[in-house]
Amino acid sequence: EEAKGVVLVDDESKGVAKKTKLHAVPELTGTRVRLQGWVHRLRSQKANVFVVLRDGTGFIQCILSGDCIKTVDALDLTVESTIELCGSVEKVKEGQNAPGGVEVIVDWWKLVGKAPGGDEAFEGRLRADTEQSIRADLRHLELRGETATSVMRFRALLLRAFREYFHKTRVTEVTPPCMVQTSVEGGSTLFEFEYYGAKAYLTQSSQLYLETVLPSLGDVYCIQESFRAEKSLTRRHLSEYTHLETELVFIEFKDLLDHLEDMICTVVDALLADPVSAEIIKTLNPDFTPPSRPFMRMDYCDAITYLKEHGITKEDGTDHIIGDDIAEAAERKMTDQINRPIMLMNFPKILKAFYMKTIDGRPDFTESVDVLVPGVGEVVGGSMRISDLQELMDGYKRTGIPHEPYYWFTDQRKYGTTEHGGYGLGVERLLAWFLKRFTVRECSLYPRYMGRATP
Ligand code: 4AD
Repeated sequence: EEAKGVVLVDDESKGVAKKTKLHAVPELTGTRVRLQGWVHRLRSQKANVFVVLRDGTGFIQCILSGDCIKTVDALDLTVESTIELCGSVEKVKEGQNAPGGVEVIVDWWKLVGKAPGGDEAFEGRLRADTEQSIRADLRHLELRGETATSVMRFRALLLRAFREYFHKTRVTEVTPPCMVQTSVEGGSTLFEFEYYGAKAYLTQSSQLYLETVLPSLGDVYCIQESFRAEKSLTRRHLSEYTHLETELVFIEFKDLLDHLEDMICTVVDALLADPVSAEIIKTLNPDFTPPSRPFMRMDYCDAITYLKEHGITKEDGTDHIIGDDIAEAAERKMTDQINRPIMLMNFPKILKAFYMKTIDGRPDFTESVDVLVPGVGEVVGGSMRISDLQELMDGYKRTGIPHEPYYWFTDQRKYGTTEHGGYGLGVERLLAWFLKRFTVRECSLYPRYMGRATP
């Protein structure tokens, strides 16, 4: 079998087969190609077996007939088996459809790895009605599906678009550590572990490290995993998520807001301009409309008024008052009603972290911003940072954080302080908005949330 195959691959009478990835097949119409991939779909019709082959770069319809289907391997072929084949690329006939508008007429093929049939057949393991926890156990198989593949491909293009935006605007990428000994967003969501006999944590945010390199690199960003020991299961919380964080130096609050708007709109435009990402948006979220500029800018106090006027209450059924945190459900209701991105600004100091700068003349409120989007709610949290040494020391005290472990962060205010600000963006949340996914879990390769760290 093997020897016969090799001869046929190089059979001069059929022409030398050019080994290629599937994405390039349409350009090779009229030539003989050699392909490798997984059987994505399989259908027998009269004297032909139709295989839609998949290799991670594309899909190609391949037609087996004649001697090619007179083998046991052909009779037993199953979905998700790996195969190798040679054949000629032809345009599909008028009125017929196939990926790329071409099909491969196979003259030789061989089975590389057979996937099980029967009870263990791939098609049977993940059905529309498969229970959620089994689906989660089979994430490695789910990732082979068209929807998950599209989401992951889009995710890669999204990250590329961000990196291009930052490159063009001279913001430098850094890679801060994930193992840390200080908290950024409060102790309640820290994952703790033992580090050579000392206490350490998985990072909640790289913000403080980004701030320390402003004097050397200027504006900086990172795309790094953050970890939160969230103690509830929601549509938008993961225990590990991809956190895109940026720190910008010598700016005012207005500059931070303008930057956020420009970055989000530029990335949206780039993804709509790229044919691959544009096609994915069209398939998964056909009603997507790019946000119009300027974004709605709403003061926290006006949001409280909005909630009251629209009967959106707190979880206990009472009205929100100034000083209240706006919980996930209320925030989403408001955002869905307004139905466009909102920059919610100027949160009360008591709700916010130790490092946030207060507003001149409104000492109980901060120069802070959350970007809210329909269907998801908060995707970005950012602020101007305290630049004054004494104010920062007061911040530690107010929030009950010992200042000693933060000496390196404090030093930034000692050695040439400056106004600066930044934000963190939840990549999975932004994806959930873009691609209209019900939960951020669909936007993570292997999502981690309370009780789940497998596979
Ligand atoms: O609002 P957060 O907690 O802000 C910070 O961590 C700042 N230190 C960031 C900064 O200024 N550099 O988190 C920022 C964003 C949120 O808006 C949300 O999109 C995302 O991170 N996020 C989560 N995403 C998924 N699962 C979770 N558990 C998340 N927690 C926060």
